Amino acid sequence: MQEIKVRISKIVDETPDTRSFYLEQLDGKSLDYVAGQFLTFIFSVNGREVRRSYSIGSTPGYENELFITVKRKENGEISRKMLDHFKEGDILTCLLPSGKFINESDWGNNLQYFFFAAGSGIVPVYGIIKSILHKNPNAPIFLLNQTTSEQDIIYKDGLSRLQNKYVNFEYQLFLSRPSTKSISVQRLNNLQVEKLVNDRVHNKEERENARFYVCGPTTFMRMVRFTLRLDGFREEQIKQEQFVIQENNYSAPLIVDKNNKHVKILAKEGIFEFEVQYPETILHAGKIAKVSLPFSCSAGQCSTCAVVCTSGEVVMTKNDILTDKDLTNGLVLTCTGHPATDIVLDYTLKN
Ligand code: FES
Repeated sequence: MQEIKVRISKIVDETPDTRSFYLEQLDGKSLDYVAGQFLTFIFSVNGREVRRSYSIGSTPGYENELFITVKRKENGEISRKMLDHFKEGDILTCLLPSGKFINESDWGNNLQYFFFAAGSGIVPVYGIIKSILHKNPNAPIFLLNQTTSEQDIIYKDGLSRLQNKYVNFEYQLFLSRPSTKSISVQRLNNLQVEKLVNDRVHNKEERENARFYVCGPTTFMRMVRFTLRLDGFREEQIKQEQFVIQENNYSAPLIVDKNNKHVKILAKEGIFEFEVQYPETILHAGKIAKVSLPFSCSAGQCSTCAVVCTSGEVVMTKNDILTDKDLTNGLVLTCTGHPATDIVLDYTLKN
């Protein structure tokens, strides 16, 4: 369900260990996505299925072509395969774009945006910044980009172009291992985060209108988020992308009635039905019943499996991604979700 085929139309070297892959749908249609989302690819490695998600760096309306950007991970079997072996014309299988690290349309106007990115965390951040500036060229945006050296700056030219085009786009680069001694070593810490923000936010109203996006290694995101929270900013003002899937400490769902539950799936491809036996997840029961449901992290962190539950009740053992508003709108995660009653899940409704 919801799997599509894409062709690599172009490959661009961004840095010595990072490449952008331009993708087009095989059926010629253009993919519907929001800047900041990701694509989950399905690979077959030695007969087993492996899924990997890569952020989209392009922005609908700003660029015509969709591209993802992949950085080599020394121990990453798929990123190495993509960088070393994939070529133009290759066909890949992926799920429809998903992810909630996006510019929220209901955040309103008069906002001031702060982006903190590290390493390949710049990929979705770059997409979101372009989308904000495309819609509102006067939006005040500050970007702190932490990277290793001058050679490792992803989208170096694109970021310079944005700087030249938009006077309200303020960009600071921190290099943790610059290649020349004339450039000082800079690693973002909590005191700098506090200063960078408070130098730009001067009163109560501006604090209220500040919005933060954080993307990078877990320790980096934790430090920035923690600092902002200690500084008095609310949880709802901060968005962070989960790149690293943390250990999923399994706990059995708190469901009193442990009888089998019936699941009805409404999808573009048709109606599917299966039973879920306690304590299976909906996703796992679907797999057993050969009903292929979308998923990526399987750990309640990415939202690829999110779907609207239109009838019945789902208990999730872990949810690190859906907001209170999402839950009010009926969204549930199938990878950590267990039906507490018979349920209907509607994939035809936009989530
Ligand atoms: S697959 Fe990632 S949240 Fe369910």
